[in-house]
Amino acid sequence: MVLLDDPVAMRKADEHGMLEFYMRWPDAIHEAIERAMAIEIPDEVRTRKGIIKYGQPELFAVAGMGGSIIGGDILSDVLQGELSVPVQVCRGYGLPAWVGPGALVVVISYSGNTEETLVAFSEALKRGCMVIAITSGGHLAGFCRKTGVPLLAVPGGRATRMSFPYLFFPLLVFLERFGLAKGLRERAEKTAELLRSMAEELGPERPAQENKAKELALELMGTIPLVYGFKWLRSVAYRLKTQFNENSKIPSFSNWFPAMNHHEIVGWEAEEELLRAFSVLLLRSRNEPPEIRRRIELTKEIALGKASKVLEIWAKGSSKLEEAVSVLYVGDIVSIYLALARGVDPYRTRSIDALKAGMAELKIAEKVKKAIEELI
Ligand code: PA5
Repeated sequence: MVLLDDPVAMRKADEHGMLEFYMRWPDAIHEAIERAMAIEIPDEVRTRKGIIKYGQPELFAVAGMGGSIIGGDILSDVLQGELSVPVQVCRGYGLPAWVGPGALVVVISYSGNTEETLVAFSEALKRGCMVIAITSGGHLAGFCRKTGVPLLAVPGGRATRMSFPYLFFPLLVFLERFGLAKGLRERAEKTAELLRSMAEELGPERPAQENKAKELALELMGTIPLVYGFKWLRSVAYRLKTQFNENSKIPSFSNWFPAMNHHEIVGWEAEEELLRAFSVLLLRSRNEPPEIRRRIELTKEIALGKASKVLEIWAKGSSKLEEAVSVLYVGDIVSIYLALARGVDPYRTRSIDALKAGMAELKIAEKVKKAIEELI
């Protein structure tokens, strides 16, 4: 087990420099915004099926898997009250039937090789959607070069999930560039500055007794975190669950208010020894609506004394975007400290790699490649 107050040992255990990169997220956000501003959006893309005109979208869709797509959920939660078009988050092979011409589909795969995402790309093009891709390379980059679909190239060589700034903030820029929202770039830049002020407080050099992220990681040791969010922190709860899975290598689950009050809450009637395995991590905001605050407080009363721990992360910042990203930032860093405290490598995800290798025999990427060639 690595002691969280030994920065030298931590640096050694965090071989791929995840923590160090998180300290540089503010700069990565600015860079991601610049890259998204700079890519050229064509007037049209031609396929054998017809001409796709890039105009004002009627639907904003985001397609991808895992760490590549979580930004789509967060965007949808944060901007729900202000976007003039629906947001559709597409996971899995293909797209829902209502995603067609008139939809802007941002296809995201950090590696560029995720088969479900490649199928979604080909399907979007076949249906005549306006497509933009975000990737660090792989098949997806190759498909863009072949078809003329605009490509936002992001720096490679890292884990998808730590590259969140490059996969999420460009979505805000695209919304603005396509005239679907205003003021997002400014909010994104403010968010970067908020993280800059948080980085040092959460960083590896700051000792555990003055470091909220280290403190939370130590509290969560030996428990299964149940992460609960609401509204603009709803998908952040899911993100944290996935980070505990992938970085900390532990089971973890998430839910949100008020939905969990209508089913999951009954699970808290279980035997004490069963419930002791769990910790509850509540995502909080000073701006939570009164009915949500009441639900959180009532649920907290139930969980206290039953769960092994009941913990909270309070959002920072003045916009929903800042609040969501500030909680995500703390939670992500907690999950890395938890990995180091548990003596596991936060970077490698062997089970995902093995699963992907097992799927390769179906040659789905090759089939998509053929389908793309037939389209151009
Ligand atoms: O975080 C991860 O590494 C995974 O969840 C991946 O994001 C997921 O497997 C999809 O791969 P990619 O992001 O390369 O498309």
